[in-house]
Amino acid sequence: MKIITSVRKMQAWADRRRSEGRRIALVPTMGALHAGHDALVRTALSSADDVIVSIFVNPTQFGPREDFDAYPRHLDEDVETLGKLSSGLTVFAPETEEIYPGGIQASRISVEVGDMSRYLCGTFRKGHFEGVAAIVLKLFHACRPHVAVFGLKDAQQFVILKRLVQDMLLDIGMVGVPTVRAADGLALSSRNAYLSPVQRKAAVVVSQAVHGAEEAIEKGEQRRAALVEIMRSILRREDEARVQYADVVDADTLQPVEEISPGQRVLAAVAVYFGNTRLIDSVFTQALADQGAEKYDE
Ligand code: PAJ
Repeated sequence: MKIITSVRKMQAWADRRRSEGRRIALVPTMGALHAGHDALVRTALSSADDVIVSIFVNPTQFGPREDFDAYPRHLDEDVETLGKLSSGLTVFAPETEEIYPGGIQASRISVEVGDMSRYLCGTFRKGHFEGVAAIVLKLFHACRPHVAVFGLKDAQQFVILKRLVQDMLLDIGMVGVPTVRAADGLALSSRNAYLSPVQRKAAVVVSQAVHGAEEAIEKGEQRRAALVEIMRSILRREDEARVQYADVVDADTLQPVEEISPGQRVLAAVAVYFGNTRLIDSVFTQALADQGAEKYDE
């Protein structure tokens, strides 16, 4: 497996591959890899000739009271995990100085996300999606992929990044991979490692909540207030669960929808604390006019 740590070397490698006519897929990650990331890498392997997995814990997407310092970092283990998926992968694992020359404070130009970052997670994580958009743009310029693969688990992130590509005229195909879940439905996440055994058991309500909303939309429920109450009532089953938000928004604009229109694609999403650990989950669904609803997978 090839490990590249410098931006210049990454660009030179990508240019060479491109000049040989090879298609490059990029899977951006922050490491601490689990089966959710594996699914992204497998999708990337099936859609390109060369796959780059980037591993970089991006400081600018963490708020001052968030878990940047505590975020799990296991580069050796991650490289071993990736080696089992394919020995031909390239890992891009830059130091912070490579990505933010002169330090984070030295950057003078930033990416503005606008009102797509105002709802759901963006309400509570100020500057988070601006940090995500900036790092992904930098990773695109470092790795020069034809295709980039992301998880629908981070639904708001995916919708915003798709819009970034569209609005900035980037020639990169965006692929979304359905959320990989544990047997009880909990979406896999690097942050699940923070949960105590009791919290881990209780966390099953998170996926139940969004699937409860999905089912209700499929049965024809269109009112935001009713859907929010369905999600909150499921989350109330566990005393440990502290709801940060439960909401339904338009799947493309991320604006809240008071009443879902026939055929409208929406995203039902929640963020829930168990102790200090914040978990998110969401489902995309599309309401049909008269005959229930259809799943929306990117
Ligand atoms: P990270 O949390 O490491 O996630 C990397 C990618 O894996 C994201 O696209 C995320 O949506 C996907 N992913 C995580 N858990 C998943 C699951 N259970 N099923 C499917 N996909 C899953 O998201 C980030 O890193 C960062 O914000 C990043 C895009 C790398 C920018 O720093």
